[in-house]
Amino acid sequence: MSGGIDTHTHLQMPFMGACSVDDFYQGTKAALAGGTTMIMDFVIPEKGESLLEAYKKWRSWADEKVCCDYALHVAVTWLGPSVMEEMGELSANEGVNSYKMFMAYKGALQLDDTELYHAFQKCRDLGAIAMVHAENGDIIAENQKKLLAGGITGPEGHLLSRPEEVEAEAVNRAITIANQVNCPLYIVHVMSKSAADIIVQKRNDGYLVFGEPIAASLGTDGTHYFNKCWRHAAGHVLSPPLRPDPSTPGHLMDLLAADGLQVTGTDNCTFNSNQKALGKDDFTKIPNGVNGIEDRMAVIWEKGVVTGKMDPCRFVAVTSTNAAKIFNIFPQKGRIAVGSDADVIVWNPNVTRTISAQTHHQAVDFNIFEANFFFFSCVMGIYRPNATSARRQVIFWLFKLSNQCIVLMQGMECHGMPMYVIARGRIVVDEGELRVCQGSGQYVPTPPMAPYVYMTMRERERQRVPPKVEREAYEGPTGDGIHMS
Ligand code: URP
Ligand code: ZN
Ligand code: ZN
Repeated sequence: MSGGIDTHTHLQMPFMGACSVDDFYQGTKAALAGGTTMIMDFVIPEKGESLLEAYKKWRSWADEKVCCDYALHVAVTWLGPSVMEEMGELSANEGVNSYKMFMAYKGALQLDDTELYHAFQKCRDLGAIAMVHAENGDIIAENQKKLLAGGITGPEGHLLSRPEEVEAEAVNRAITIANQVNCPLYIVHVMSKSAADIIVQKRNDGYLVFGEPIAASLGTDGTHYFNKCWRHAAGHVLSPPLRPDPSTPGHLMDLLAADGLQVTGTDNCTFNSNQKALGKDDFTKIPNGVNGIEDRMAVIWEKGVVTGKMDPCRFVAVTSTNAAKIFNIFPQKGRIAVGSDADVIVWNPNVTRTISAQTHHQAVDFNIFEANFFFFSCVMGIYRPNATSARRQVIFWLFKLSNQCIVLMQGMECHGMPMYVIARGRIVVDEGELRVCQGSGQYVPTPPMAPYVYMTMRERERQRVPPKVEREAYEGPTGDGIHMS
């Protein structure tokens, strides 16, 4: 199969007072071990910081360390004439065709609706893709204050302050704003059923919007926030949060199989226990982020192909080819063909592997796919892989009621792993053995105006010229002479 493309990573990212522990070496090494041969990371400038300077900083961090190819998205965290100019420069000369805007992280990265409107418009003008982190940051900030004042300081507060509808509302708003300026939109880290359903509904109505669930939202759920073990619960903190409705991963996988959602990333942004502990007394200070870069392919194979929801061809589409098309690097990437990069994996569907932080190649000391509550349900004899949603609901409530410290270090069992991984022609996994080379990966420029995305947009724009009505000038009396007494 074509090597995986992870559309969403944050390697060695300075964030919330910490720096994610999987750097460009360790992170890309783990990616290759799992069958991902290219990653797309995010440049996140601080407010007021030059986008170009930030981009150069990320390049300098990555170039010397990456073991696989990579591209960069750039976040627009503030607006001004220089930002608009630099977006132009990045797209014209530096191979950046995707910009991420945040609707959350109030006071830090968040943009308001007017700013989103202008940022989307700029993306459209450049032929770039607008990406959004869709959550209503204003509501979250109020909820956080209320919960803290009410004495909820633990990781469950993270979930409680960011309910599903807060994600769904922002998804709907982002799609509306993007449509007003005729800009293609990409919703990153789709975490809930209601957010995903809005994307599907809008796509059915003809909107050009793409949805990216991540390994975490496809592979586990938000029941973990109620775990009595603080480290366990905090280990699952990311934004938007995982959803406690246990039918969420299955629903997202159904949509991914049926093209309601199109691509998969991981949002890999890993923090060790001591870093998560920055928020031990206040959930708003827990650095946000989880793992996924190594396990994405295996988790999607397990939950998508092994369950019979998608065939191996669709697996390749959602783990590799669609990303290459959307970000305009197809057929260089996302395809096995003469002239394409030799990013190839040989997948053995007959081996089993149990995910564990003890054996993973990542730097982080925790793995969300190890903290597996299905094991608990299996032990109780009530979980079946084909359980009805009513049955899953029962399991969910039993789990919640028990409310015990159930830290079952029993990892997810995955059927299938890459026996051989070839990255740009180099064999980096050989019979399951990893042989990477630091700095051997290359930066892959993503040119603007992806035909896959923009072909229809340009036509739509032509259809959309506002219809001015030609009429005779008004000749009757005007407001002159009308007096209020
Ligand atoms: O929790 C998350 N998602 N951390 C990384 C930053 C982001 O919002 O993507
Ligand atoms: Zn985000
Ligand atoms: Zn992210």
